[in-house]
Amino acid sequence: MGTETDEQAPTADDLRPGDLVEVEVGAVAHGGHCVARYQGRVVFVRLALPGESVRVRITEVRKGSFCRGDVVSVLRADPERIEAPCVHFRPGGCGGCDFQHATGTRQRQLKADVVAEQLHRLAGLDVAVVVEELPGGGFGWRTRVRWALDPQGRIGPRAVRSHRVEGVNPSEPCLIAAPGLNELAATADVPAGVRRPSSSGTPVRRQQRQLRGRAARPELPEVVLTAAGDGSLLAIWPDQPGHQEVPTVTEQAVGQSFSVAGDGFWQVHPAAADTLAFAVDEALAGVELDGGSSWDLYGGVGLFAEVLAEVVGPSGTVVTVEGDRTASGLAVGNLAHRQQVSVVLGSVEKVIDDLPETVDAIVLDPPRAGAGPELCRQMAARAPSVIVYVACDPAALGRDTAALMGAGYRLDSLRSFDCFPQTHHIECVARFLPA
Ligand SMILES: C[S@@+](CC[C@H](N)C(=O)[O-])C[C@H]1O[C@@H](n2cnc3c(N)ncnc32)[C@H](O)[C@@H]1O
Repeated sequence: MGTETDEQAPTADDLRPGDLVEVEVGAVAHGGHCVARYQGRVVFVRLALPGESVRVRITEVRKGSFCRGDVVSVLRADPERIEAPCVHFRPGGCGGCDFQHATGTRQRQLKADVVAEQLHRLAGLDVAVVVEELPGGGFGWRTRVRWALDPQGRIGPRAVRSHRVEGVNPSEPCLIAAPGLNELAATADVPAGVRRPSSSGTPVRRQQRQLRGRAARPELPEVVLTAAGDGSLLAIWPDQPGHQEVPTVTEQAVGQSFSVAGDGFWQVHPAAADTLAFAVDEALAGVELDGGSSWDLYGGVGLFAEVLAEVVGPSGTVVTVEGDRTASGLAVGNLAHRQQVSVVLGSVEKVIDDLPETVDAIVLDPPRAGAGPELCRQMAARAPSVIVYVACDPAALGRDTAALMGAGYRLDSLRSFDCFPQTHHIECVARFLPA
């Protein structure tokens, strides 16, 4: 229950954006905020830590429901609260980081609590979760960013729950961005074809649509900045008309080179691809797979197909399925030295019925939405000896764990990795075996 600070303290029903309230902070929740209650009403609080007593500025009020707010002062601090080093990390500031106000150890504990809570709530499991640190420290790790261009010509991440651009530059850099990306943001040329936003924040073409009532919210042109493992620095504007010829970059993992589109999917932390590949390899161990058959679903440019090819050996088979045409084409080249691998272009949901009937091992690495109950049922129906699930969203992992349990599998092991320090994001590698 929140405490009122003075006679003007609003009642919970009358809360409005801008109000200041004092609350006791409860548990961390999925999404980078903690849960508090003000006179019984739920307030999702950013920049807080569980157990703290804080003053919060209300930023959003959902009628008859919850509110959101940012901590503006701390009345009783968690012992592991620290001064955030980045100028962009502040109430109403950049939406890219969530936990800069906590030590790395505390951040990983928060993420472990979220994973455990999601598995408990969505799958009914009590799992002791440990989030493992990646090498390289907590800053300068993000090798790919998707930032926006504002009417003043600034490039940067968006402010939290807003379209406002938090402009970054070498003197006020984004501290999680890999070396070179802040400089690139400050100096990147905006190609002639990219429609600059008007001062209302809306690109001209979209503004016209908006006038005709077809688009509701302002949008800004975006640029993908990449600091690749091969040393190249790229700025790619997906909104550019005729945006066809995207250069490829070369990344290294598991002792192999992978060609990746400059704006395509590759793990953004330099140590993440190897870390996850080794965890997948470990999760496949102990099951007899030499000469066996396997699927790599949501395969990207072939990272886990490479792991599977090694595990099943030359007499085994790997089918890797990827929906993006460019990534799938690159996977063909990346995996050309593995005769046992075939690459299928298509959406997993559409092609799964056409995949070889027998499968001994499935690795899947879906986007944030997860696999979904139907795909979980279809995978389980093929009765593989092991399913290894690489999850970038703990809620999707919780839902899909419940679906796999309902289809006859059990969660046998789980490893979690802090692939995104300072943010609430996390990667998990879960191994499922027949129950
Ligand atoms: C999280 S990434 C994983 C890529 C790869 N496993 C890796 O680690 O590099 C998810 C991939 O799934 C692809 N994808 C998304 N939805 C898909 C779908 N419905 N069917 C097939 N591929 C899909 C995306 O293009 C992306 O390459």
